[in-house]
Amino acid sequence: MLQGKITQYTEEIDSFTTTKADELERFRIKFLGTKGIIKDIFEDFKSVSPEEKKVLGKVLNQFKQLAEQKYQSLKDQENADDTENAVSIDLTLPGEGFEIGARHPLALVRKEIVEIFSRLGFVVEEGPEIEDDWHNFSALNFPEEHPARDMQDTFFIKKGGELGDIALRTHTSSVQVRMMESGKPPFRAIMPGRVYRNEAISARAHCFFHQVEGLYVDENVSFADLKQTLFYFVQELYGEGTKVRFRPSYFPFTEPSAEMDISCTICKGAGCQMCKYSGYVEILGCGMVDPNVLENCGIDSKKYSGFAFGMGIERIANLKFEIKDLRLFSENDTRFLKQYKSSLI
Ligand code: PHE
Repeated sequence: MLQGKITQYTEEIDSFTTTKADELERFRIKFLGTKGIIKDIFEDFKSVSPEEKKVLGKVLNQFKQLAEQKYQSLKDQENADDTENAVSIDLTLPGEGFEIGARHPLALVRKEIVEIFSRLGFVVEEGPEIEDDWHNFSALNFPEEHPARDMQDTFFIKKGGELGDIALRTHTSSVQVRMMESGKPPFRAIMPGRVYRNEAISARAHCFFHQVEGLYVDENVSFADLKQTLFYFVQELYGEGTKVRFRPSYFPFTEPSAEMDISCTICKGAGCQMCKYSGYVEILGCGMVDPNVLENCGIDSKKYSGFAFGMGIERIANLKFEIKDLRLFSENDTRFLKQYKSSLI
């Protein structure tokens, strides 16, 4: 009986030739596995008579060897096939180079500005790029008919097919309003971010650019504080000895207002194309926060006063790196981008 089984399985083993991994594994489990045929046959062998054992013992061992050898030789063949099919790799070839990214010049300049103001205790505040009329204009004292609200400058957003009071922010002063509305003085923060204006794209103008605005509100803040803060900022950013000058100006949200010029960073005041031979270049707008703005944001203007300022990061980068065409900043040409390094990196 046992002899019959062995003969039958020997035939099966002999005719098995595949080297396919899954079939080979099935073969192993079937014959050599812990619950496999060989194990089974050896179990049966225990109940065979002692005379039969003498003969069958040898047959059984041969059968076991046959299964093991078959499996091993097919397995070896399978591995050999795999190696043949494998793609040959030459490990001595040099590796493929990859480029290390660089920080965007605007990000470098922004980082530097944030660094400098943080030394004076200014924190970074951020707000939404899609704003309502209140935060971008009304709270900031823009009269109803002010030309900056005009479609010329502002990208209004349609709501239900109609132009409503939602727009892309035109400056980050809107973040100052949000900050003042939701907190209590003192405030000391800068607001970096992207702003949008409806301008034709050229070397000198773009429909979006980046700003850092700043706000300081506390008791007894004066124009002297404003001047000293901005003077310090400029010395840190462009080096000691950089001169500043303030020219009276107008912004709806500050009174008095000024524009600040610095001695030209390119020619050091001698006169060049950058400063149009005046020796000075304008870098920012500033002023004392108009009491109306403080009141609009729920702050007692009799008790508190403050100053604000705002600058374009592109402009600052332009004066630092002499990048004359604004379009370069948004073209993502890596040949342009990887040229810039900052003193702070
Ligand atoms: N918000 C002004 C602008 O976008 C800049 C500014 C900020 C001027 C704060 C004065 C005070 O041009």
